[in-house]
Amino acid sequence: MNIATDMPYCRLDATRFSPQPALFIVFGASGDLANRKIFPALYDLYLEKQLPDELLMVGAARRNYSTKEFREILRASCLAHSRHQDEALHTDAWHAFSQRVFYIQNDVADPQSYEPIRRLVGEQDRSVLEGLAPHIAIPHNILYYLAVTPEFFPVISENLGRMGCGSNASAPGWRRLVVEKPYGKDQRSAASLTEALHKWFEERDIYRIDHYLGKEAVQNLLHFRFANTIFEPVWNRNYIDRIEITVAEQEGIGTRGGYYDGFGAARDMLQNHLTQLLCLTVMEPPATLSPEHIRDEKVKILRAIPDYSPQEILARARRGQYAVGTNARGEPVPDYLNEAKVRPDSTTETFASLTLSVENWRFSGVPITLRTGKALAEKYSEIVLYFKRPPSALFAAQCGDLLAPNSLTVRIQPDEGIWLSFNAKVPGEPAIRANSLRFSYREVADYFPEAYERLILDALSGDSTLFIRADESELAWQVIDKLEAAWASADPKAAPESGGLLKYQAGISLRDLIAQVREPVLREPVLREGLV
Ligand code: BG6
Repeated sequence: MNIATDMPYCRLDATRFSPQPALFIVFGASGDLANRKIFPALYDLYLEKQLPDELLMVGAARRNYSTKEFREILRASCLAHSRHQDEALHTDAWHAFSQRVFYIQNDVADPQSYEPIRRLVGEQDRSVLEGLAPHIAIPHNILYYLAVTPEFFPVISENLGRMGCGSNASAPGWRRLVVEKPYGKDQRSAASLTEALHKWFEERDIYRIDHYLGKEAVQNLLHFRFANTIFEPVWNRNYIDRIEITVAEQEGIGTRGGYYDGFGAARDMLQNHLTQLLCLTVMEPPATLSPEHIRDEKVKILRAIPDYSPQEILARARRGQYAVGTNARGEPVPDYLNEAKVRPDSTTETFASLTLSVENWRFSGVPITLRTGKALAEKYSEIVLYFKRPPSALFAAQCGDLLAPNSLTVRIQPDEGIWLSFNAKVPGEPAIRANSLRFSYREVADYFPEAYERLILDALSGDSTLFIRADESELAWQVIDKLEAAWASADPKAAPESGGLLKYQAGISLRDLIAQVREPVLREPVLREGLV
């Protein structure tokens, strides 16, 4: 029996977590994302009885499928990717779920092909949905999920808007637009994307996905920080020495060379997932738990990142690219330059780290390192707060650096949980060493939804807390733009601290890589002007 699960618990504002009936229209329905993540997440939610009964799902894509054929294709992918392997095989469950799934052929670039969507959304024309049972009503609320590459976001929004299907058209229900990452490639493109979407959709109806925010351990950051009294008093520059935020991946880029080579680790990961983790880790308590108040606090953090000069940002950043090696399963990994759809002379980084500071009252001068890499020995995501060492007296006077600093690790994946490390006596010996208290989420919870499940429910509930607001996205790009500009003008053959690109062996441990790139540990508080 687990003590924690026997404790009374407090259910948070239920009105915010009530998904509403809607027409859930997925553009890019025959693509990878729809098949591996979105529809399996919908199916899992259905099995968990979390979806509103009246939800109707519509796949839209270019291929000429009938609804029946589309359901068959989805069946294979939903069963393969569902969390409920036993139940998922249950024929009745699939049958009932699939009766709510339909297909519409659509060429996103062709305005004519939006006519069925217009009839469905604007006129509730039942003939658009092949085989719709007579007792099923068509909901007025519409959620458009753009599971397509970002170059199509503006054209879809434009075509929907022109057909009177945008959120700014007067309609009986709500109309929301969910967009995937990458959201732009730099600040300018993100801003122009937002401008294009705003033509037809209000900002409050745009849900920009960062799937990291849907992870349970990431959501817990705010609960952990602001539902306890014992951590917040030490959560500042007086006690915290430095913070490290790491997303380490074992896989290389696989078949994603076409996308990845134009992006690289900084744009693919630092700008979004790691920056979001940074904001949640260091932001001030919001005035309330409303989405806008939480997102306002995140924006304040982004504004407090200094306006580094090109030299300074080079000194704070490191980049690397994997070379031939062996992955964790013992399989050979090619040199990044030999991966499919990668330019043979590419200087795109597959490892990036950036040590920055947040110059506000709470965290001024505390080095915060964001790092991520592919083709590494380890796979984990975590945030570690290292506390200052005790005064150099008593035990510290004798032990020096052997007395480990206290640290608090927020483990995001795998083994979601929180670890607190502290020093204690070694029994039977006149010695001291670090130990840890470990809280493991998996031990206290049976129900562990996938990030996409949470995000879909929130979008259906109208809760945008876990989605990125336009200003957040642009400010995050501002930092990455500076880094990219500095790297673009640096010699890739230079030393790591001057912007050089280090070739590292695939399968290397993160620890060795950090040593090879000579990642900086900057401790001096620096006074700056001209914050971003
Ligand atoms: C995606 C990136 O956003 O996140 C991928 O484009 C990366 O390159 C992935 O592998 C990591 O997500 P997760 O949930 O597997 O840590």
